Amino acid sequence: MQTAVYPGSFDPCTNGHLDIIRRASKLFDKVVVAVLINEKKTPLFSLEERVEMLKTATKGFENVEICSFSGLLANFMKDNGYSVLIKGLRAVSDYEYEFQMALTNRNLFDDLETVFLPCSSEFMFLSSSIVKEVAKYNGKLEGLVPPELVGIIKRRFGY
Ligand code: COA
Repeated sequence: MQTAVYPGSFDPCTNGHLDIIRRASKLFDKVVVAVLINEKKTPLFSLEERVEMLKTATKGFENVEICSFSGLLANFMKDNGYSVLIKGLRAVSDYEYEFQMALTNRNLFDDLETVFLPCSSEFMFLSSSIVKEVAKYNGKLEGLVPPELVGIIKRRFGY
C-alpha cells in the first residue's frame, strides 16, 4: 500500500490545498495530511482548529487522514514508515525553495521521495495569507476556501 504525506501549516486550509489533496488521493492508496506545529509562524488558528477544519473539508475522502507533527518533517516520515512526500507547486517561484526542501529532506532521510503536483490554474494566486487578508476586510471567501470553512473563518475576524 503506497501512502503519501502532504505537509503544511494549513492556517487555514484553502481550496488550493484541497485541490492537491483530492488529486493525490487518486494517485495513492492513502494520503496523510500532516499539519505542522510551526514555531516559525504565529498561526491564526490553533493546531486543533486547523486539524478540525481539514477533517471537515476532507470528510468526503475515504483514504485521507489528518494528523499533526512537530520538528523535522524527515524525522516524522522516517519514524512513521512513510517515504513519499507530496508538495504542490503554484508557480515557478515556488520551485527553487521546494527543490531546496526536497534535497534537504532526502539528505536527512535517504528513502524519502518528493512528488510535485502542479496546482490547478484557478488556484495559482492562492495562499493561506491571502485568505486571511481577504477575511480581515470581510471580503468574499467563497471560491477561496471550502464552503464549510467560510463561516468559521469569518467568525474569527468578528463577522
Ligand atoms: N494552494 C494554496 N496555497 C498553497 C498551496 C496550494 N497548493 N501550496 C502552498 N500554499 C501556501 C501555504 O498555505 C502557505 O501560505 P502562507 O505562507 O500564507 O501560510 C504558503 O503557500 C507556503 O506553503 P509551504 O511552503 O508549503 O509552507 P507551509 O507553512 O504550509 O508548510 C512545511 C511548510 C510544513 C512543509 C515545512 O515548513 C516543513 O517541512 N517544516 C518542518 C521542518 C523541516 O523539516 N524543515 C525542512 C528541513 S530544514
